[in-house]
Amino acid sequence: MPKLDATSGEFRDAGHKLIDWIASYLDNIDSYEVLSRVHPGDIAKQFPAAPSRDGRSYDELIADFESKIMPGVTHWNHPSFFAYFSITASQAGILGELLTAALNSQGMVWKTGPSLTELEIVTLRWLARELGLPDGMFGIINDTASVNTFHALVAAREALGLDIRRQGATGRNLATLRVYCSKHAHVSAEKAAIALGVGYENVVKIAADDQHRMRPEALEEAIAHDFARGMKPMAIVATAGNTSTGAIDPVRAIGEIAARHKLWLHVDAAYAGSATICPELRDLWDGIEYADSIVVNPHKWLFTPIDLSVMYTKRADVLRAAFAPAETPAYLTLSDTADVNYMDFGLAMGRRFRALKLWMVLEHYGIERLRSVIRDQISWAQRLAHEVRDRDDLELLAPQKFSLVVFRRVVRIDGVIDEAASELQTQHLIDRINDSRKAYVSSTRLGGKLGIRVAIGNGATEWRHVEEIVGHL
Ligand SMILES: Cc1ncc(COP(=O)(O)O)c(C=O)c1O
Repeated sequence: MPKLDATSGEFRDAGHKLIDWIASYLDNIDSYEVLSRVHPGDIAKQFPAAPSRDGRSYDELIADFESKIMPGVTHWNHPSFFAYFSITASQAGILGELLTAALNSQGMVWKTGPSLTELEIVTLRWLARELGLPDGMFGIINDTASVNTFHALVAAREALGLDIRRQGATGRNLATLRVYCSKHAHVSAEKAAIALGVGYENVVKIAADDQHRMRPEALEEAIAHDFARGMKPMAIVATAGNTSTGAIDPVRAIGEIAARHKLWLHVDAAYAGSATICPELRDLWDGIEYADSIVVNPHKWLFTPIDLSVMYTKRADVLRAAFAPAETPAYLTLSDTADVNYMDFGLAMGRRFRALKLWMVLEHYGIERLRSVIRDQISWAQRLAHEVRDRDDLELLAPQKFSLVVFRRVVRIDGVIDEAASELQTQHLIDRINDSRKAYVSSTRLGGKLGIRVAIGNGATEWRHVEEIVGHL
């Protein structure tokens, strides 16, 4: 029998073709429709019930990719992708991914990937420095912010000293664990509570002020109330740059409360954390010295292809205590003395060499270029907000923050806003923009009002793309 890949000839030809294909795709990304026109099931039904018995050539597969798969792609790399938080597969990031796949390193322990482990340590040290985060924190890359928040809350539970790691939480007479976050926090806090056995009803949603920031006095009250009822407050999740509006919870005031009650403070800066590569935006970190853990997603706004989310913690010992196996299995016994075996700091044993793409992005573009792209994007968001403010038929629904603008269409009858008509017109506007397939925006609801969410974050975006949104208005 031949080896799986007998020679590298076909690979070389197809590889060159695919790099050319990717370069043309990125060069011409403007000519694609952002949103696909397919209906559910359209893509799946084109494929046979079973894969090829005898294999197919790369040329045939590339032809299928173009004719069958591309029509169902939502183009996150498109410069007019303004929905959610756009994720850019920058050229440097794509090349990093290519090498990651080629090496196929698996970094469960140092020995299985010395470069993987050490480049992760180095790039995360660089990143912390460039974001202006406190020195000396332990960093780890996981796939998503949701998973990192889950890991942070497992560590928070470990820090309670209830021995749940060993005995579990069932069949014991334990107090109810409670987690606190703003009513505008990302759903990942609730999902973590579900997976942890804390239960989503024990994620207490704290009221926010009129700028969508958690109210510390409401937090203090909720914690006191829970202590009085014999519950066990465990952690606070503060959001620095929330999903709907980019609002920053008052981390310092929240941190003081966390410190007073000895609660774990996790700061979710999944989106806005990347912006602090610009020194003038570092007020985001006011009070960050109180944080036990922080999450930042270079795959949201640092031009790194998904997936790459970073968690920092100053309590690596607790994270390790939460996740290291009870006993090292015989098949993992090590003879080296490396400090970091990353599998001890999270759920996954197998770990991809993700740091390569972050290294490529940081080094290829350089900090100044990354800063200037982020600054441009923020200035366009400010310009869009300015246009909205200038118009009677539009209303900003939240103070403009970072590269995010949230607004709605308003309909006035005799000078008074008609809520039902405004809702309808706002929905029409969202549908009109998205049905055009030329741009993609998402929506949110604030104080019961439907809002259009425009998030600028794609490395290919220019002001003219944002201007097209203004055209729709
Ligand atoms: C503030 C915030 N936290 C967490 C997340 C979840 O990110 P991920 O998709 O990496 O889990 C998001 C996603 O938009 C977010 O905006």
